[in-house]
Amino acid sequence: MSYDALQKELARYQKRTPQSAAAHQRAEKRIPLGVASNYRHYEPYPIFVKDGKGSRIHDVDSNEYIDHNLCFGALMAGHCHPAVVKAVQAKLHEGTTFGMPHDQEWELAEEICARYPVEMVRFGSSGTEVTMHACRIARAATGRDKIIKFEGAYHGLHDTALVSVKPKEDQYGDPDAPTAVPGGGGVPKAALDNVPIASFNNLKSVEHRFQQHPGQIAAIILEPILMNVGLCLPQPGFLAGLRSLCDAHGSLLIFDEVKTGAKLAWGGASDYFGVKPDMICLAKSIGGGLPLGAFGASRKVMGLISDHKVFHGGTYNTNRVAMAAGLATFREVLTRENYAHVGKLSKKLAEGYRTIVAKAGLKAYVASAGVNGALMLYPQEIKNYRDWTKVDVDLWRHYWFAMVNRGVLAQPYWWDEQWTISVQHTEADIDAHLAVFEEVAPALAKAQAERGMVTVAAGH
Ligand SMILES: Cc1ncc(COP(=O)(O)O)c(C=O)c1O
Repeated sequence: MSYDALQKELARYQKRTPQSAAAHQRAEKRIPLGVASNYRHYEPYPIFVKDGKGSRIHDVDSNEYIDHNLCFGALMAGHCHPAVVKAVQAKLHEGTTFGMPHDQEWELAEEICARYPVEMVRFGSSGTEVTMHACRIARAATGRDKIIKFEGAYHGLHDTALVSVKPKEDQYGDPDAPTAVPGGGGVPKAALDNVPIASFNNLKSVEHRFQQHPGQIAAIILEPILMNVGLCLPQPGFLAGLRSLCDAHGSLLIFDEVKTGAKLAWGGASDYFGVKPDMICLAKSIGGGLPLGAFGASRKVMGLISDHKVFHGGTYNTNRVAMAAGLATFREVLTRENYAHVGKLSKKLAEGYRTIVAKAGLKAYVASAGVNGALMLYPQEIKNYRDWTKVDVDLWRHYWFAMVNRGVLAQPYWWDEQWTISVQHTEADIDAHLAVFEEVAPALAKAQAERGMVTVAAGH
């Protein structure tokens, strides 16, 4: 159901990015979809990147963009942050990885324990890895197998996580007892049986799962803000309600803070919302652009590893380059001053968008929290995954390509993502971003008015 104004933006995109088209054609011959992660693939072809510095990147056609993709939110530090570069460079000359313990480990563990409500930490290299270990530890800690997960939430690619990530309407069943749907081939049936699904912001659906499986729920895992459906905030009382249910049933509450841990606030989601989880998972922006993850909990829970009851390992765990980047990030990037700086920019961007949306008469709202935000093309606030599926996908693509064509990567491609602001963004970047949105918004409003509210079951 494409339309003229969108077609024009797509044609302009293709005219601006011929080298990306050629690079993609080349890559497709050897790499499935021509990309290294399915999330990086979109039609007609993705932008191939040349380099990045600070708040900006260049593509292989030498177009410059203000970057709010920032590697799907992994770069609150921005590109090539001087403190990160300096720390990494030093380690490149001292040995990158040894598979042996070293002092950066406890130093970074101290930084993490000072900020988040955990007493002990282990490290890994990705979000997938740390949520996988967190789920396993929760199972070992309780002697139970089932992990409650929310429909539409993303926790990475292991079998427990890849359930009901983007289920289709004809698969997902009752909103109070959603069906567990595999997120692609290869997820075993046993994994589905061990991942009862609930609806975000719907405590009844969670209670139902506890009643259905008495004494069998090891944990609830959640993103405290659902950030794989744009940006969906927990309603008042929801997180506290989950805390109470876990306490009542002897289950653990796992906050997957891969996105929120660094970007929401100095102390992550537990600090921001005032609800204490039993375990947290960190990755993305804690590494300043290097692959770094961490999971932590109380001494008692993490003691399962010390007592050799749960096994955890990994060749590249705490490699010195990623650890140097992590230490520089905690000490010199994620500082109180920088949170004040990005907080100001975030407010300016979100409020600027709101003013432009209202002026253009676009039926949309702007969700924002910490350094993240998104233009949500819905007339009212979404509360869960199913609300999110009602986006007008073509209108969103119109927004994204129109912004790209004018030099702003407003967020990663896909309407389930959100923008990130880095500590290296400036007021001038935000002004430039808003000026482009002001130019684009009237065309979006016009297309929306002509099309009516088109709701297409979204997904990818
Ligand atoms: C909330 C959340 N958890 C886990 C992951 C997986 O992280 P990674 O891609 O580093 O494996 C992601 C990635 O987007 C995420 O957003």
